[in-house]
Amino acid sequence: MAKVLVLYYSTWGHVERMAQEVAEGVRAVAGVDVTLKRVPETMPPETVAAIHAKTDQAAPVAKPEELGDYDAIIFGTPTRFGNMCGQMRNFLDQTGALWQQGKLVGKIGSVFASTATQHGGQETTITSFHTTLFHHGMIVVGVPYACAGLTNMDDISGGSPYGASTLSKGDGSRMPSANELAIAKYQGQHVAEIAKKMFG
Ligand SMILES: Cc1cc2nc3c(=O)[nH]c(=O)nc-3n(C[C@H](O)[C@H](O)[C@H](O)COP(=O)(O)O)c2cc1C
Repeated sequence: MAKVLVLYYSTWGHVERMAQEVAEGVRAVAGVDVTLKRVPETMPPETVAAIHAKTDQAAPVAKPEELGDYDAIIFGTPTRFGNMCGQMRNFLDQTGALWQQGKLVGKIGSVFASTATQHGGQETTITSFHTTLFHHGMIVVGVPYACAGLTNMDDISGGSPYGASTLSKGDGSRMPSANELAIAKYQGQHVAEIAKKMFG
């Protein structure tokens, strides 16, 4: 049975919501096992409290060394200045031993993201994240244009061939739209179908 990990960081819950939908997409493929986890918080507790971060996230916290246990990993991160967040970077920077042992070589990697604004770095966050996955020898999977949500022009929406994404607004008041959730689910299902063919 192919094993897929959805691994995310989320400060205010936007990436968390997307991650849940990506996991739903994986679940839609029979014979594929899905695990939803997050990376550890690195901000001090007083900062977490001061910025009203969402602290009730139910997903368990992952350990870097467990990444080798999965056939595919779908990473979710909020944008920080057009790149992945520090919490995810810190987690990935603890995977040197896995890299040395080639534990992720030939496995599937895929990325989704969130920004506050429409052109605030959705695509750069995802494609710059891919660099780390290539260094690990992973096979990078995005979202093909077969996903109808990518060509929807009826409303403002995240989502690109590089990966699903959402727009939170500067004050965080916008949660993922139906179109963005549909793309997220598609990404999960797409990765799961490939994982099943390769590892099932
Ligand atoms: C330090 C910092 C840098 C950020 N940089 C960007 C940015 O470059 N572009 C952008 O659109 N949003 C930026 N944001 C907004 C976050 O990406 C946004 O809050 C996040 O996507 C919401 O997802 P979450 O609730 O899952 O954390 C930044 C936020 C912080 C705190």
